[in-house]
Parts: sequence; structure tokens; C-alpha cells
Amino acid sequence: MRVLGIESSCDETAAALVTEEGEVLADVVASQIATHGPYGGIVPELASRAHMQAIIPVIREALSDVPGGLEGVDAIAVTQGPGLVGSLLVGVQVAKALAWSLDKPLVGVNHLDGHLFAIYLQRQDQGEPAPVPTMPYVGLLVSGGHTALYRVEGFSDIALLAQTRDDAAGEAFDKAAKLLGLGYPGGPVIDQLAARGQADAFSFPLPMASRKTLDFSFSGLKTALVRHVQQAGVPEGEQQLADLCASFQGVIVESLVRKSVLACQREGIDQLVITGGVAANRGLRARAKVACDENGIALFVPPPISCTDNAAMIAMAGVHRLTDGERADLSFAVYSRDPDRRRGKFRADGTLVEHKPE
Ligand code: KG4
Ligand code: ZN
Repeated sequence: MRVLGIESSCDETAAALVTEEGEVLADVVASQIATHGPYGGIVPELASRAHMQAIIPVIREALSDVPGGLEGVDAIAVTQGPGLVGSLLVGVQVAKALAWSLDKPLVGVNHLDGHLFAIYLQRQDQGEPAPVPTMPYVGLLVSGGHTALYRVEGFSDIALLAQTRDDAAGEAFDKAAKLLGLGYPGGPVIDQLAARGQADAFSFPLPMASRKTLDFSFSGLKTALVRHVQQAGVPEGEQQLADLCASFQGVIVESLVRKSVLACQREGIDQLVITGGVAANRGLRARAKVACDENGIALFVPPPISCTDNAAMIAMAGVHRLTDGERADLSFAVYSRDPDRRRGKFRADGTLVEHKPE
């Protein structure tokens, strides 16, 4: 089965063609960074308009090298949520129109499932097929809108273990970069600067340091950076700026890695997948490798191109549901927030007492 994936939840318009085995036959992403860059963040109305302009050319390009073009598509998977409603509607309406006119099966996919299953994509330019995890695994999803830990049991069986109480990690990177005058998006530029800096040059408090909770929090760290800049100003020297970025990034990375290892230990699982845009961060990838090796955990991180938003991951998350015969009714609606997946018994501080599979 060849599944056309369509993604338009945020600021990337994307289309891809993926086989049942996860082989990526085509993968096109049109980024809106140039549109939103001057505003230091995503402007929803501009995002919807840019999706409208890009969606048909992006789908055409994705199918241009595929024998049979649209006729070679067996089914369609589209991001249904969470995301910006105006943006989601563009992809969903086009997907519905294609599914109806071609009489092909369609499923709506949760964008976060896409990130969690991106690890199963096999890209031709990757060389040797990368090792993949077996289920269950612990998934750390770190993106611009979400930071959460999941227990992934199956393609339709994902339980939320913990999440951020305020800002997402990517949001913290983006806000810090804006404050430091480094442009948007902040993650890649802070990543680059941090690689040349000393992570112990400035001291920032480690958020949610207690081992009692798996939850994250990044707004206090952001405030600490704001205070630092108010008192000391934005560093003028390049090395000092690199040191500040390394120190800031180091605290985010440490928090993400500690909670991920703790989640594996609590769940009795020895496989960790790190995914989402922030998983492209070199500091996070390196630190997670060391911590996983120390704790006997096998680490799986998709290549950076599969970590940031793309449509191949949406096709991947939909393919098993489609092969199982699932078909969406064409009247389905989009959703802006992730539906509550928390299940089992939780203590007041959010820690899991007992995992209860449905
Ligand atoms: O997954 P993604 O492309 O979109 C969302 O679903 O949010 O993630 C985008 C986020 C942005 O906040 C961006 O700054 C961050 O991922 N990001 C990074 C890196 N590349 C992208 N953060 C840290 N280091 C990177 N190399
Ligand atoms: Zn995303």
C-alpha cells in the first residue's frame, strides 16, 4: 500500500508518499520560516494563507516522480490535529476532496502520533536500514508546541505519562532566541552557538529537579534568562553569547534526559525514542546517548529531517490503521488541542501509580 501523507498543522506545508514498510518514496516540505521570521513567531492567519498557496504545488511535487502520480496512491492520511485550526483545515479539506474524487480510503492522524512513529521511516538516503524499536517503548516528544513522555504500546495505543506544565522545550528555545536577537526559529541557531560554548559558564536552575515527578517546566528557566539579560544585557562578544546559549541549552537537555531515563525506569522499559523538532538538537542527541548507555537503555532518534514537521511521519502513523481497514467518514472535524490520553491512576503530583491499558 502506498499512502499519501498530508501535513499542514503549523508552519510547514508537506506531502509525502510512504509504503506499508515505511519506505519513503517522496517527501516534500515547504517551510514558512521566511513568512513568520520577521514576527519572531508564527502568525496564524499568515500560516493559513501560505498553506492555501503551497498545498497543491507541494502535493504535485511529491507525486511528480512517482509512477502513476495520483493514480499510484492507495490511501490518504492527513493531520487532523492538534495544531492551528485554520492551517489544519487546508490540509484536511484537500485530503477529503482527493479521497472523495479518487474514491480512496482516508484517515485523520494525530500530529503527535506522527512524531512518535517517525522512527519507523526508512529513507533511501539513510544508507543501511536503521535499527527500530519494538513496542512498548518510551517516547519523548519535544517540539515547538509539545513536550511530553508517552508509553507507546501500539500504533493505536499510546498513553501519556507526563508533559510540560507550561512552555514546550522548543518554545523555550524560540523565546530565548527572540530575547537574544537571534531570529526565528530559535532551536537551530542556539544549537549551533551552543556547540561552541561552555555549558557551565552561566548557572541556571534545573527545573522540576525532584525525582518524584516526570513533568517538565520551562517557563522558570525562560524567566531566569530574561532576568540575566535585564541585569547583564545581551552578551556582545561571540564567545560569551555561545557560552550563554550552551548554558541555557544544557539545562533544557539535562531536564529532558533525566525525566526520560526516569520514565524508562518507572515503566520498566529499556527503549527510548526521542522525536519532534527539538530532537534535531545535537546537544540533546549526544547527552541522551551517554545517559542511555549508562542506564542500559537503547536509544532511537530519527534523522533530523524526520524529527521536524514532515508528512512522511503522518503517512507512517496512518498506514497501519489503513491496512487494518480503517476508513474516516468524510465529515470529520479538526481539533486544536491533543485529546486527553492520560489513563491509569496518578498521584496528585502527576506521577503514575498504576498503568491501566484500556
Ligand atoms: O516538530 P516541529 O518541527 O514543529 C512542531 O510540531 O512544533 O518543532 C519545531 C521546534 C521549534 O521550536 C524549533 O526551534 C525546534 O523545534 N528545533 C530545535 C532544533 N531544530 C528545531 N530545537 C533545538 N535544536 C535544534 N537543532
Ligand atoms: Zn510537530
